[in-house]
Amino acid sequence: MVAMLASIIAPLSFLALASASPVPASSPGSAWKLSKSTGFHLQVQLRPGSGDIEPSVSGKYLIGTHVGAGQNLAIISSGNPDGPAYYVNGTEAQGWVDVLNDLGTAYPWGLVVQDANTFDPVYEGEHGANINVGGGSNGIKIERTDSLVRLGGISVGSYAVCNRFIGYARADMQVVRYIYPGESVGEDCVAVDFIPKCATLAPLPEGSQATHDFVQEVECVISS
Ligand SMILES: *[C@@H]1O[C@H](CO)[C@@H](O)[C@H](O)[C@H]1NC(C)=O
Repeated sequence: MVAMLASIIAPLSFLALASASPVPASSPGSAWKLSKSTGFHLQVQLRPGSGDIEPSVSGKYLIGTHVGAGQNLAIISSGNPDGPAYYVNGTEAQGWVDVLNDLGTAYPWGLVVQDANTFDPVYEGEHGANINVGGGSNGIKIERTDSLVRLGGISVGSYAVCNRFIGYARADMQVVRYIYPGESVGEDCVAVDFIPKCATLAPLPEGSQATHDFVQEVECVISS
């Protein structure tokens, strides 16, 4: 009898848990001082009422960590960005818009976010993000709504940061996730916005085959 009850209750309480964390709305960011720049760093901003995870992700920066040839997992790093700047490459009118970072090399690395039907191979039901050699996902750019400037996704949804064990690094990391409409914030995750902080985009090194011809100027927040 007890075993039977448990087998009925367990899936029910799992369902309750799964729907318990709706995605909170973004902070309007009305106090920001905006400027324009081609280069930017991407800083985590928590959403009002979202809480945080341990260790805190507030104010940390989006970087990549090596997980294979030409592949970096998108994670959150503490400390100030001293690394190379991101930039928006192309426009919808040009047929492709993505967010790239040269990472101090002679070629671009693109921010790639899994679409609504593509999932992390280890963490079932989660959409991951990478910064891989070559282009990024089409549609990702800096978007502005009223006074909010933030990193957009390939379609409507929300970025999140989660504490996850990463086998390649054999360590717990704070990885970037994307939540599509109808999905909820995962366990040990927090919904966030990535705010572009104005930064200087370094030119490509002499002799590089890549181009900055499609780089777009974006609105970004001036660091105080
Ligand atoms: C940069 O943008 C241009 C114009 O949309 C596009 O043709 C090109 O493939 C993009 N490059 C990368 C590396 O994404």
